[in-house]
Amino acid sequence: MKKINVIIVGVAALLAAPLFHAAEAKKSPRNETQIKRGEHLVKAGLCADCHTPKKLGPNGPEEDHSLMLSGHPAGSALPPPPKLASGPWQIITDGGLTAWSGPWGVTFARNLTPDKETGLGDWTEQNFVDTIRTGKKMGKGRALLPPMPVEGINNYTTDELKAIFAYLRSLPPIKNAVPEPIPPTPAASQ
Ligand code: HEC
Repeated sequence: MKKINVIIVGVAALLAAPLFHAAEAKKSPRNETQIKRGEHLVKAGLCADCHTPKKLGPNGPEEDHSLMLSGHPAGSALPPPPKLASGPWQIITDGGLTAWSGPWGVTFARNLTPDKETGLGDWTEQNFVDTIRTGKKMGKGRALLPPMPVEGINNYTTDELKAIFAYLRSLPPIKNAVPEPIPPTPAASQ
């Protein structure tokens, strides 16, 4: 009798196994190979140069990995940028390379983590691809301003952009409401 029970349990487990795996796959559709590829492309593509806040190290600002790709820190009370020079020095940036001032106004590197309110949490893969392909938010919103290097990033293949998005999706979401760009004022462009 005991033996029969064991057999029944064994058969039930065998029958249930594929169902269990299917449920698991549905629950976590993470594709680790794609995420790893995306991580490589993000690192080699220097996204963190502008999108990761910096902390001060022995040689000056260095990436703060606890705030990976979370954009210009909203809490940093930056004073208005100095007036732009009229000569060859045209662009000013803060020590973290997350805030930029130039003839286009002032821009702040955005939060690329999957936070729903302040990052890309609500974006689909297609939204991301459309943004890079058109240089406009989600393919139809406002144009992305400098120094976001859309022209260069647009050289990635669609598969590569999808891998980048998969990696961004795998990051811990960080709440950081990056300020909107400030248009140039006559005073700033003198
Ligand atoms: C030289 C600095 C710089 C680099 C390098 C850079 N970005 Fe940006 N990025 C910015 C700035 C500044 C903005 C905000 C522009 C604006 O507000 O119009 C931005 C905006 C974006 C946006 C729009 C997000 C939104 O919420 O609208 C995406 C997506 C993005 N960057 C992805 C990337 C990726 C992916 C890489 C690397 C492959 C990258 N960026 C490299 C500076 C940079």
